[in-house]
Amino acid sequence: MREDLIQLKERTLEALSNLQNMDELNDLRVKILGKKGELTQVLRGMAKLTAEERPVIGKLANEIKDELESKFSEKMRLIKKAVQEQKMQQEFIDVTIPTKISVGSKHPLTLVLDEIKEIFIGLGYEVAEGPEVELDYYNFEALNTPADHPARDVQDTFYITEKILLRTQTSPVQVRTMEKQSPPLKIIAPGRVYRSDSVDATHSPMFHQVEGLTVGEGFTMGDLKGTLVKFVHEMFGRNRKARFRPHFFPFTEPSAEMDISCIACEGKGCRVCSYTGWLEILGCGMVHPNVFRNVGLDPEKVNGFAFGMGVERIAMLKYGINDMRLFFENDLRFLRQF
Ligand code: DAH
Repeated sequence: MREDLIQLKERTLEALSNLQNMDELNDLRVKILGKKGELTQVLRGMAKLTAEERPVIGKLANEIKDELESKFSEKMRLIKKAVQEQKMQQEFIDVTIPTKISVGSKHPLTLVLDEIKEIFIGLGYEVAEGPEVELDYYNFEALNTPADHPARDVQDTFYITEKILLRTQTSPVQVRTMEKQSPPLKIIAPGRVYRSDSVDATHSPMFHQVEGLTVGEGFTMGDLKGTLVKFVHEMFGRNRKARFRPHFFPFTEPSAEMDISCIACEGKGCRVCSYTGWLEILGCGMVHPNVFRNVGLDPEKVNGFAFGMGVERIAMLKYGINDMRLFFENDLRFLRQF
């Protein structure tokens, strides 16, 4: 029996040293040390031993059992460690490998819009907003442009219903602001506008405008001129000249358009400026008394000036872009240049 025990131990140690994983280890443990395991089987035979032999063999059996158990535990630790190490190997990340992360840039229209906002905020203006789906009333009627007014023909409007449309200009924000806030007021209103134009190098059915409105007491065309010339100098540089030409808008009286000296030829005359030396960049004027009346203000007591500019046009002039479609095509070769 002594022989049996020693042989069992040797065999078990041998098997233990060869096995590779937890499953094999558990199988072997059950096979040897389990309730119906081989060691237990051998110990059953103790009953047949003599009284002298029994304690000696019993002691040996216990020693072997302890030894095997501690060897099993040790092997288990080794396997666990190996598994852990393998896992670490697989999950290893080399944080020193160089990576190329391409950072996006702002769209040229956003750049120009940001700059326009910054200039006017510097002059004390606040940014206002209004809806793109607008009532006919705000887009035309309240801006002194009644249904039969010829100025409506100029703007090809997307109508949603008889009374609801996509705004053709940011000017309705003037009216909405004056309905909510009382003078003195200095606001700009940037946003999208829509006109049923076909797409070409200078037209798009959706484009952007920035509206401006100043309301208070005792304003003159001189204030309007000073503000807009300041804007031109900030936007296009100190050397840029500005001029005002009389024009017509229903919501201003008098009205004007402002030109800047041609950016391409410095006023000498070229294809960009149609050989005039000047480029038109915005419309403006003194707010029409009827617009004040429509929002319940007394034109005898308040006055002010307004202006409206196209953002695409200004961006095209500033960056020398000759086709408006480039803004909307999202060609990365174009966008990455800004
Ligand atoms: N709303 C005009 C347009 O879309 C631009 C404009 C002209 C706005 C004169 C104004 C203004 O506020 O006073 O053509």
